[in-house]
Amino acid sequence: MKTPRTIVVGITGGIAAYKAVNIVRAFVLNGDSVHVVATAAALRFVGKPTLEAISRNPVHTDLYEGVAEVRHVAIGQSADLIIVAPATANSIAKLAVGLADDLLGNTILASTAPLVIAPAMHTEMWNNAATVANVATLRSRGVTIVGPGVGRLTGTDTGAGRMEDPETIVAMALAVLDRLQPGGESAVSAVHDLTGRRVLISAGGTREPLDPVRFLGNRSSGKQGVALAQAALARGAQVTLVAANLEVPVPTSVTTVRVTSAVEMHEAMTLAAESAEVIIMAAAVADYRPKTVQVGKIKKEDVGDTLTLELVKNPDILASLSAARRRGQLIIGFAAETETDADRLLTLGRAKISRKGCDYLVVNRVGPGVGFGTERNTVTVLDRDGVIVNEASGSKVSVANCILDLIG
Ligand code: C5P
Repeated sequence: MKTPRTIVVGITGGIAAYKAVNIVRAFVLNGDSVHVVATAAALRFVGKPTLEAISRNPVHTDLYEGVAEVRHVAIGQSADLIIVAPATANSIAKLAVGLADDLLGNTILASTAPLVIAPAMHTEMWNNAATVANVATLRSRGVTIVGPGVGRLTGTDTGAGRMEDPETIVAMALAVLDRLQPGGESAVSAVHDLTGRRVLISAGGTREPLDPVRFLGNRSSGKQGVALAQAALARGAQVTLVAANLEVPVPTSVTTVRVTSAVEMHEAMTLAAESAEVIIMAAAVADYRPKTVQVGKIKKEDVGDTLTLELVKNPDILASLSAARRRGQLIIGFAAETETDADRLLTLGRAKISRKGCDYLVVNRVGPGVGFGTERNTVTVLDRDGVIVNEASGSKVSVANCILDLIG
């Protein structure tokens, strides 16, 4: 069994505090030890008994409680990761100047653990120059900022400032945690090693329309591509995702271009590639599409017992991006194969990388319960010479980090 990690969830006084319960729950179900430090204002929005029941630990708020055990330092020192969700404009300002006038402020100052914060506030407060400067300060110190999203706010208004979905906050926190060496030094400096790098990723599976209601598709959920986006974002990269029919949410800080078919993905990737330093083609792209798309629904009364489809080849996006690559651009492809023999799988991979012309190829086996749609993945990464440069097996985010390590 894995050793439980200690996750401190700081909750500050915003209406989104009720959603923090889901973050606490997710880490508890993940087997981590979760300690909630709530501000007094947070407890006006969500009840202490709820947080204690869900975290399975006492919830602390008061700086002057448990003084004998030096609690204001102990909680921070024990943390492997601190998440502040929601982080109000006020709490962000306090963090930026290093104020320690409550238990949460002390906990954070006394900790060397990475800090992930999920801002939540009204649009005007988020756009205020003071908040903008405070967020920039925190980011420059290695704090991972998740969100906020754009959408319905507490009142009738809509705009930027909505707390990121708990599922995405947890995924981003796991992406940060994934890079911490057990028992190692604080990894805060290593967390943002891709700061400013422009990374373009494709994810999901294309759908090739037959008629207005039907398509030819594949079983890709987009989880590996989204995990790459989350991991790259957590490492400080500027991420663009060309997303085809995803089953999972994407962090709002990722620039997302939604597409459906291979032809649409080709156009979107070609355009986005102009400003990308790194391109990762994780999408499952259909090799063929129906030659004609029927205007009306295909009806069996008109077709009879046998329907024959005529398919035409789709553009090979990876090959065309590789052929048109700019100087210094790094291109990584995937090879999802059903081959079960490890040696034959590598032989297929070696033939594919020379055909595609990319710099690295991530070879993974897919099939029922393997690769597509699952939470884990096992990959072997080949370079242009067909040499194995990396192997990884684990959560899709840990596989993503192993791939991103190639960027350097
Ligand atoms: O040819 P195959 O589909 O096996 O190659 C897989 C790799 O090529 C993946 O990186 C996939 O995203 C990419 N691909 C592509 N355009 C296609 C087919 C696959 O870019 N039409």
